[in-house]
Amino acid sequence: MNQPDRPNVIEAIRFDGERLQLLDQRLLPAREAWLEMTGPDEAARAIADLVVRGAPAIGITAAYAAVLAARRCKGDEAAWQAALDRLERARPTAVNLSWAVARMRDCAKRSGGPDPERLFSEAREIHRQDIEANRAMAEAGAAQIEPGSGVLTHCNTGALATGGIGTALGVIAEGWRQGRIGRVFADETRPWLQGSRLTAWELSQLGVPFRVIIEGAAASLMASGQVAWVITGADRIAANGDVANKIGTYMLAVLARHHGLRFMVVAPSSTVDPQLESGRGIDIEERSPAEIWRAAGLESEPPGFAAWNPVFDVTPAELVDCIVTEAGAHFPPFHFA
Ligand code: MRU
Repeated sequence: MNQPDRPNVIEAIRFDGERLQLLDQRLLPAREAWLEMTGPDEAARAIADLVVRGAPAIGITAAYAAVLAARRCKGDEAAWQAALDRLERARPTAVNLSWAVARMRDCAKRSGGPDPERLFSEAREIHRQDIEANRAMAEAGAAQIEPGSGVLTHCNTGALATGGIGTALGVIAEGWRQGRIGRVFADETRPWLQGSRLTAWELSQLGVPFRVIIEGAAASLMASGQVAWVITGADRIAANGDVANKIGTYMLAVLARHHGLRFMVVAPSSTVDPQLESGRGIDIEERSPAEIWRAAGLESEPPGFAAWNPVFDVTPAELVDCIVTEAGAHFPPFHFA
């Protein structure tokens, strides 16, 4: 594959300039199957359907899809821009998606139109920068953790969710390697089970011992004294440090404060949205209630049943002790410009 240098063993996105391949994350850990696509709308559908997910990973996918769009549109700039509009709308909360699409639009502007080869270089650069940011964050985040600490993480923030070794999970893997992290707990993360399917799969591939808990066990785990830190990723960080991330993150931050634990958020600067003063303006994606019934083992919504399925929440900055980006660790009061 014509990929940027990939030192990590797990990868979920491959692109050779003509064909985009995505590891179908809906099937993990039962099956490792790749889907191949040559058009931008297939990629937009894959993002919406969670074939690929995680804020940086969907940004990288959209960047590669913009190359596919340029090949399809053969110089028709209006058609290319329309394809990028559709990609941008695939999911609303993670700012990395619109950030990557904006970078591809800027690149086309600088090149006098959507030139596929220039766009390919730009997309590879977005991917490469994410790999580098992941490495820098792993070091900076691990350095904050006292030797032998227990940690709890949420959702999936590893190689599957990014271009490199991951955000929060990169810190956890590095912290484990350095002996700073002695115990890892992963929330199952309902209803899509990113924790018990994807984080568990990644940690087992990395050889890091872990235990999965149901979200409802988080308070008891914290009260038991087994964890010192909660470490999560982010989908969008406002200028004041409010953090949008997978639903349940806010609950963990409240619990962590109550139990005197520290709360770390790990995300590249492509996840920071400095235009947004606070988290109040973040568009929270709501997905089909069918996902909740499926997680309950039901094929469809039983008559008379109803559900609400917001898939992200906003943790107020006052509950966050540390935000790690590739520039290093930031502490309150946060101000991202
Ligand atoms: O719905 P998902 O699986 O795309 O949600 C992913 C998350 O919330 C992650 O925690 C976040 O994107 C950070 S991943 C590096």
